Amino acid sequence: MSRTLKYDIPGTDWRRSMADAYEFGVHSLFAPEWEPPFPLVVEIGFGRGEFLLELAAKHPELAFLGVEVSWKRVLKMARKVARAELENVRLLAGKGEAVLGDCVPEGSVHTVWINFSDPWPKAAHAHRRLFQPEFVRQAAVALEPGGLLRVATDDRVYAEQIDEVLNGEPLLENVYAPEPWVREVPGRIMTSYERDWREDGRDMHFFDYARVTT
Ligand SMILES: C[S@@+](CC[C@H](N)C(=O)[O-])C[C@H]1O[C@@H](n2cnc3c(N)ncnc32)[C@H](O)[C@@H]1O
Repeated sequence: MSRTLKYDIPGTDWRRSMADAYEFGVHSLFAPEWEPPFPLVVEIGFGRGEFLLELAAKHPELAFLGVEVSWKRVLKMARKVARAELENVRLLAGKGEAVLGDCVPEGSVHTVWINFSDPWPKAAHAHRRLFQPEFVRQAAVALEPGGLLRVATDDRVYAEQIDEVLNGEPLLENVYAPEPWVREVPGRIMTSYERDWREDGRDMHFFDYARVTT
């Protein structure tokens, strides 16, 4: 049985528009509460949003931008952010590729998180996977020197593709080298997909890549 979607926001509505992000850049979405320069963390595909909520509550000194292609998930998350009374989160309904590629000044992002992006396991759908060289280049260019691209997947085949694409990006350096990924990251917040996959006994693959200083 489908549940009725609630549209009211029980507090401040921190959703912002892609039109503003394109026109003025993502840092402007935090005005007037935040004045640049400030450390900006971007999560792409936040899903149910627990990870972003917990991280933002733990780090009031950082500004968090949640990007999610599903507008329903953005609406539900806007209700959660309002209820949690977080003032350091802004939400965009849009594609991560568009945000990193067109709305973020070069070298201006502290961290990009991408947790359990869809693996599209069928070969015919492989072109839909987020981790493609062009996308990884956009993420690398968006990061400030030393900034981190932090990625998780439960899917072994996708992990190998992610490894290949990240390794092939000269602007990024593998924090865990010579290992391609690690199985656990101490202190990491669990996402809801991760909880499900761990219950299924699946292996985790965590990548951390740092933007090199050129
Ligand atoms: C498998 S879910 C993982 C959700 C969450 N990160 C977690 O770990 O629980 C992938 C999420 O990414 C979103 N998504 C897929 N492609 C996207 C894109 N290009 N940009 C932003 N979000 C995307 C989907 O709508 C979905 O919510």
